Amino acid sequence: MVVKLEKIVPLGRSFDEYSRMFNFSQEDFNKTILGVGDGPASFNAEATEIGVKVTSIDPIYQFNGEQIQKRFNEVVDGIISQVKETPNDWVWKYHKSPEDLRRNRVEAMEKFLKDYNRGKQEKRYQVEELPELSFSDDRYDLGLCSHFLFLYSEHLDYQFHYDSIREMLRVCKEVRIFPLLTLMLERSPHLDRIVEEISALGHTVSIVPVEYELQKGGDRMLSIC
Ligand SMILES: C[S@@+](CC[C@H](N)C(=O)[O-])C[C@H]1O[C@@H](n2cnc3c(N)ncnc32)[C@H](O)[C@@H]1O
Repeated sequence: MVVKLEKIVPLGRSFDEYSRMFNFSQEDFNKTILGVGDGPASFNAEATEIGVKVTSIDPIYQFNGEQIQKRFNEVVDGIISQVKETPNDWVWKYHKSPEDLRRNRVEAMEKFLKDYNRGKQEKRYQVEELPELSFSDDRYDLGLCSHFLFLYSEHLDYQFHYDSIREMLRVCKEVRIFPLLTLMLERSPHLDRIVEEISALGHTVSIVPVEYELQKGGDRMLSIC
């Protein structure tokens, strides 16, 4: 698997952000969860602490913690500057300001790094890459994909999205994806066709409002059962 770390933006979110992006219910805490493209999110570390079973997959897990931290340090200030230059694109209700956003991303990275080596030994962090996964059919109850599919619609074409979502549905009984906007804050050009073609396979596909919103208008997730 050839992955260039310098092409990746390893910024991670917290368990609390995941729970809001994906409308977690108490019932979800008893599910086995696959976090697809979790990167340096602290979701897995914090979930494990409270007994929720999460496996995270990401091609960046072929790198060690120091390398991931170095890449984070290289990109974080540039991203926060871009955010400051586009004040109308963001909603400051969860993160209170660009500085608060930076603090929260640093905190998530620190929690991730503290857990990373132990989590790797426990196989909670595995090197895997869409659109093909090595897991058996229906291995997980719930598959989550935060800030990868749809967000990078300019870089990843329709076929990649379709194949990736079908693969997640092979491995997980239910799939949730957030956000449905691109980096340019536009509704993903792949979304309507995905809804149509995945529904035609017999799945129930819904666009569900959620309480989390950072990108303006990015307050919907896709739920597929
Ligand atoms: C913007 S980060 C989001 C991290 C995390 N999901 C979150 O929301 O905090 C996107 C992640 O997708 C990962 N990624 C890139 N290509 C991938 C692929 N083919 N399959 C799965 N994950 C991939 C990147 O390595 C990166 O960690």
